[in-house]
Amino acid sequence: MIEFTLNGKPVKTDLPEDTPLLWAVRDGFQMTGSKFGCGMGLCGACTMHMDGQPIRSCSTPLSAVAGTRITTIETVGEDKVGAAVQAAWEKLDVVQCGYCQSGQIMSATALLGGNPKPTDEDIDAAMAGNICRCATYVRIRAAIHEAASKLA
Ligand code: FES
Ligand code: FES
Repeated sequence: MIEFTLNGKPVKTDLPEDTPLLWAVRDGFQMTGSKFGCGMGLCGACTMHMDGQPIRSCSTPLSAVAGTRITTIETVGEDKVGAAVQAAWEKLDVVQCGYCQSGQIMSATALLGGNPKPTDEDIDAAMAGNICRCATYVRIRAAIHEAASKLA
């Protein structure tokens, strides 16, 4: 039995310890905002926060999650930084197909949580692991600057 906090609520699961967190959240807890892309930690579509830091949930086993605080796209907007990021995403109409965007928002929120005034280079470095096949990168960068300006 693995116990952790998921979006502010204590949860437990008896799924095998090597089950990826992404499966547990999507199939076990029916929260499907986090997406499966590569399944190998390479695309960022599955990004969640563990104790505030971005992780690739497709390659994070439940055994590594015990006792931690996991946040997903379903509640990241309840936080001031996450809310500012989501508002900026809407204002600048960042999304194209949308598949990667949950992961993009989670990474962007983690970035701004630790660096309220990121440079273009900071943004590119922090977001490098989040792939967008629709190539929305220019709007993503602009939206992160927009969110930063609203949080200042
Ligand atoms: S699905 Fe997890 S990094 Fe691609
Ligand atoms: S918006 Fe389509 S993959 Fe990023």
